Amino acid sequence: MEQPDFNLEEVNKIIRGRRSMFVAQFKENDPVDDIIIEEILENANWAPTHKLTEPWRFTVFSGDGLKKFAEFQANLYKERATKNGNFIEATYKKLSENPLKASHIIAIQLKRDLKTNLPVMEEIAAVAMAVQNMYLTASAHGLAAYWGTGGPTFWPEAKIWFGLEEEDMLMGFFYVAKPASERWPMGKRKPIGEKVIWVK
Ligand SMILES: Cc1cc2nc3c(=O)[nH]c(=O)nc-3n(C[C@H](O)[C@H](O)[C@H](O)COP(=O)(O)O)c2cc1C
Repeated sequence: MEQPDFNLEEVNKIIRGRRSMFVAQFKENDPVDDIIIEEILENANWAPTHKLTEPWRFTVFSGDGLKKFAEFQANLYKERATKNGNFIEATYKKLSENPLKASHIIAIQLKRDLKTNLPVMEEIAAVAMAVQNMYLTASAHGLAAYWGTGGPTFWPEAKIWFGLEEEDMLMGFFYVAKPASERWPMGKRKPIGEKVIWVK
């Protein structure tokens, strides 16, 4: 078999150098081209998927769409927190303002295929691998990006807003922007040796 023309050095570099960058590190009001977002999504679509269920679904917010998302999550927070008696003004403000600091926000959704009888773990794993592809592509473009599971991720009302069924899942939001700083962040991991047992 002919070997594919992969560059292992580049693969190692991008996997180990991929980083999360958060809203405070975003360069505001300087949107990323949609064509890069399309490339990020195309790569997401090539994640491994048991029985080819391809369970990942995405909603992309940009421009005025970011305002719609911000209003949605802030209003829903207010409604829920007021009912529960734990409303915090600073949280409301963050939910209203943070999305506007991003270039694009990609809502990460899992659409179950019940016919296949796959355990949900396999579908969650496939979507997570799609997100890893998004992360790698964003980093390869030098973009600031992170997977956030805050805000409405686990609120049932949000699932309805995204048109998801009971068995589906909202798995968070992939925030993308240009980075404010030219300095790429350092990663931090404990050695792999502490997490592996070899049996020979
Ligand atoms: C499933 C998942 C959920 C995450 N949710 C959040 C989050 O809600 N807020 C946040 O700041 N980072 C979140 N992160 C990103 C982590 O903070 C980040 O991966 C970690 O700090 C390691 O940094 P690195 O990605 O640069 O290696 C999440 C990552 C994963 C995989």
